[in-house]
Amino acid sequence: MQGSANLNVMIKAARKAGRSLVKDFREVENLQVSAKGPGDFVTKADREAERIIKEELMGARPTYGFLGEEGGETAGADPTRRWIVDPLDGTTNFLHGLPHWAVSIALEHKGEIVSAVVFDAAKDEMYWAEKGAGAWMNESRLRVSGRRHMIEAIFATGVPFGGKGTLPATLQDLARLMPVCAGVRRWGAAALDLAYVAAGRYDGYWERGINAWDMAAGMLLVKEAGGMVSAIREGDNPLEKGAVICANEPLFEGFRKIIRGE
Ligand code: IPD
Repeated sequence: MQGSANLNVMIKAARKAGRSLVKDFREVENLQVSAKGPGDFVTKADREAERIIKEELMGARPTYGFLGEEGGETAGADPTRRWIVDPLDGTTNFLHGLPHWAVSIALEHKGEIVSAVVFDAAKDEMYWAEKGAGAWMNESRLRVSGRRHMIEAIFATGVPFGGKGTLPATLQDLARLMPVCAGVRRWGAAALDLAYVAAGRYDGYWERGINAWDMAAGMLLVKEAGGMVSAIREGDNPLEKGAVICANEPLFEGFRKIIRGE
């Protein structure tokens, strides 16, 4: 893999956390689980993975800030750069023995995501992207799908744990979208939903009520694979508003109109 020094640091951290998670995944029935809220679980696996990632990233770049799902925000001496980390995206899948979860690490510079890693450790699929350098899965270049017609297209979505008040809007989205497309999937790991759009497996994805760490890395994967990404509402920043939509270019405008109810 030919990436920048920062990307190499991110890949090393993701692999190290991935090894720890795969070990815990094999013995998942022995993990102590605590619920932060309905459907919002945390285990020693998440905490240990975040600890490993933070140690690697902060060890290599001590001045950068850090935002992690489990530990929250740590300001850095350099206010222009920040890691955005979900150590285990798809925790509920993980806890049920479903091999569909990932480590997600993004590097933000002056408010823009410039490097991204999403590691599906159970399948050894390392998705990575750098601004201007394309998106890759292991050694293969990624490209969004070429489908042009809604009726052939498959979309993914998510419903955040506890619904987070977004369930009624998502159900309305589904009522408008499902009759005009080939199908909608809900697999429970936003970072992988975005990676799958980048890989051309899904034609598009949208979700309301997610967090910056769920989507930061995946958004760059989609962009660098030639896709379009935005907030659901005109003018919003997806990372701040927690609502994101993406698709290949031919489908994007039509898909976004349907989700916006226009
Ligand atoms: C969750 C997953 C899920 C999405 C939720 C996220 P977590 O992340 O990405 O697909 O619908 O919004 O919170 O809690 O497993 O890291």
